Amino acid sequence: MNIPVRLRRLRRTAPMRALFSENQVTVRNLVQPYFVVSGKGIRKEVREGMGLWHVSPDMLREEVGMLSKAGVGGVMLFGVPDTKRDDGKELASQMASLQAAIGEAKSAVPEMPLFADVCLCAFTTHGHCGLVEGNEIVNDKSVKVLAEMSVLLSKWGVDFVCPSDMMDGRIAAIRSALDENGQTNTSILSYAIKMASAFYGPFREAAHSAPSFGDRRSYQMPADNRREARRELLADLDEGADALLIKPAMSNLDLIRDSREATDAPLFAYQVSGEYAMMRAAGNAGLIDFERALAESLMSIRRAGADVIVSYAARDWARR
Ligand code: PBG
Repeated sequence: MNIPVRLRRLRRTAPMRALFSENQVTVRNLVQPYFVVSGKGIRKEVREGMGLWHVSPDMLREEVGMLSKAGVGGVMLFGVPDTKRDDGKELASQMASLQAAIGEAKSAVPEMPLFADVCLCAFTTHGHCGLVEGNEIVNDKSVKVLAEMSVLLSKWGVDFVCPSDMMDGRIAAIRSALDENGQTNTSILSYAIKMASAFYGPFREAAHSAPSFGDRRSYQMPADNRREARRELLADLDEGADALLIKPAMSNLDLIRDSREATDAPLFAYQVSGEYAMMRAAGNAGLIDFERALAESLMSIRRAGADVIVSYAARDWARR
């Protein structure tokens, strides 16, 4: 047959396919999340096999050592405090374990890029990402508290503060608070495009952060809106974000691509807890090959244009 273009010719052998591989996923591009709890000797999966780890500061030290040897790109910390408060006035003491964890991680491997979440949902009784007055999640007062939280995390040693609250104007406020406190070397990774998503379920179980009333739709983005996503991205860039994050990753591959084309700034995508859990559960049910599905999903996120992927799979990947 006369077939002028035969694409199968370059797919014939594994070395041939490797030679023409356009995208790669390496552990260098992955960041592993951890949920920091108080105590000693704790390293426990929230649900077995689901990849969300509660760790105490001393165990985080071991984890960071292991990940660093394997070449994992970074570690992201979420605090799970012992006590909740709604006024944001005791954050320093609520974050005591987080402070200890940052100290352990930084003394174990000083050069390992360390990220910390900035948000109030795990620290308040109502589980919303900002301060609440009546039934409203108030913006400007929340921004002040988030900026204070960022300064604390920065002084304790993180390389990146990562606001995931979705209040307006927080990137600018955090940047000036950091600078005023001499923290000019601390970067901001902004959760710029964050959907009000059903895929955060396992995370909320791990962080004890499900909202006790209402939902997050008055601050997180609706999945309907592509142009609004671009506005979120560009606003955070204008306000001084060093890097931008899109999440969930797998249901927003188009927005990762849009973002890649809209800016040259570093882009992160978060393969969130529910996305990871779906693949795990389907794998456990014998419906799909988990390892292959995972590799394929990470590749698609890279192909869409993400430089770095935050994923619960980083740790498994490193241990293979
Ligand atoms: C905190 C925060 C959430 C996630 C990251 N930061 C949960 C939420 O918004 O309810 C979700 C990450 C995941 O599901 O893995 N606001």
